[in-house]
Amino acid sequence: MALLQRLGASSLRFSPSVSLIVARSASTMAPKLRDPSLLKHDVCYINGEWKPAGSGKTFNVNDPSSGELIGTCAECDVEDTKSAIRAAADAFKTFRTTTGRERAKLLRKWYDLMVENSEDIAKLITWENGKPFADAKGESAYAANFFEWFSEEAPRSYGDTIPATVPGNRVWTIKEPVGVCGLITPWNFPAAMITRKVGPALAAGCTVVCKAPGETPFTALALAELAHRAGIPKGVVNVITTLSNTPAIGEVLTTDPAVKKVSFTGSTGVGKLLMKQSSSTLKKLSMELGGNAPFIVFDDADIDVAVAGAIASKFRSSGQTCVCANRIYVQAGIYDEFVRKFAEKVQGFKVGHGFADGVTHGPLIHDRAVSKVEAHVKDAESKGGKLVIGGQRMPDLGSNFYQPTVIRDATPAMAIASEETFGPVAALFPFKTEKEVVDMANNAEVGLAGYFFSRDLQRVHRIAEALEVGMVGINTGIISDPAAPFGGVKESGFGREGSKYGIGEYQITKMITYGGMGQPLQS
Ligand code: SIN
Repeated sequence: MALLQRLGASSLRFSPSVSLIVARSASTMAPKLRDPSLLKHDVCYINGEWKPAGSGKTFNVNDPSSGELIGTCAECDVEDTKSAIRAAADAFKTFRTTTGRERAKLLRKWYDLMVENSEDIAKLITWENGKPFADAKGESAYAANFFEWFSEEAPRSYGDTIPATVPGNRVWTIKEPVGVCGLITPWNFPAAMITRKVGPALAAGCTVVCKAPGETPFTALALAELAHRAGIPKGVVNVITTLSNTPAIGEVLTTDPAVKKVSFTGSTGVGKLLMKQSSSTLKKLSMELGGNAPFIVFDDADIDVAVAGAIASKFRSSGQTCVCANRIYVQAGIYDEFVRKFAEKVQGFKVGHGFADGVTHGPLIHDRAVSKVEAHVKDAESKGGKLVIGGQRMPDLGSNFYQPTVIRDATPAMAIASEETFGPVAALFPFKTEKEVVDMANNAEVGLAGYFFSRDLQRVHRIAEALEVGMVGINTGIISDPAAPFGGVKESGFGREGSKYGIGEYQITKMITYGGMGQPLQS
């Protein structure tokens, strides 16, 4: 596969013979699981039991790298969802009365089982999501860590004693679980986005109905199997799968009066719809929606550190994360050097099937994702952007592959400046001043993550405070950590996941006032 390399007016020079290293897809890359019983076909998990969809229907799940069938899954519908909600509502009656310590032990057991089975979970992630196996192992550990973190939070979450204004009154608060939670999760982190929601929900004493993504249901079902083995009581965790009935199931989860909370990770458009639907029963909501992360490199930055950070942030999961750098702004004095060093790193990528040796970057999830990437590249080129590397599909590998791409001389007029690409395209924008770059960075409807690189301490504080985002990475391209609050501002949504704040999303703060306590001591 020849490197498509077109240089603009810059002084950049690459040898035309240099190629992206491409690992061919093997025709069959089906992994062998150490424990094959983790792979659940044609069943969902409701009320502690494995059952087929009520309709008996199934859907196909395909490997995004090879297109091969992985297996079939239960096509759950509205009735299955209602039965999962009923199971969760019944289980809530007793689960809400368990102590934090009891719930901590359950989550810890589930965590231990995830660690014990982490290779198999990683294999399922790579198989159905496509990310390289090394990244999938990282996700498997990251996902388990949410259970560890929230097992530690469960016994340590409690209310306040408040000095009352009214003489003789005593005021205190207790934390109660909100109730049945509807959790809707995406395919880009098939395990971690589930554990990031289920961990705090269970720690708080809630019960859950989790709608797994149609692209990556097998990882979700393996987690349910481990929940079963961990002894999570029946009905506390329910996992339903669907491909075609997603909108109908989303509607049930957002309108059924028994569901008290909905947590969603996905696009801003779908988030708005779910929020509208939830208004009929005024559910508590957490919305982790789209991003369009600015990534700013000031000329006082350590360029090599900034390049490494940009590579990690932009190309992690082939650009398919909500916190991926989408707009890389580089100050004029170091722009050419940064472009050269950045492109050199991209040249070293090995693209291919996630199980192939040495592969660093896998496919996109489906053809629609490739089309969006392609449209962004064409749009950027038509508006003066210059391709430094990449810019083509990779049909030899499969229909979901696109070359990791670097575009220089990007401008705010390009679609890539205002829309999340969710793919392996790095657009590099030159800028001159702090004010100019902060204005460009904040000129977005969304505000999830933002990054910048600088060694000037005063600038570090100025820029961190000026960026309109929920999360800031300074001199790093990776900010994900179960201990850190994850979430956005503006149309990136609201609510925080992970950290000490994550559990509060699944709790009610109940205030209790006890009056008439002011009498003098009795003699
Ligand atoms: C996401 O893309 O929403 C999650 C990214 C992360 O947790 O690192």
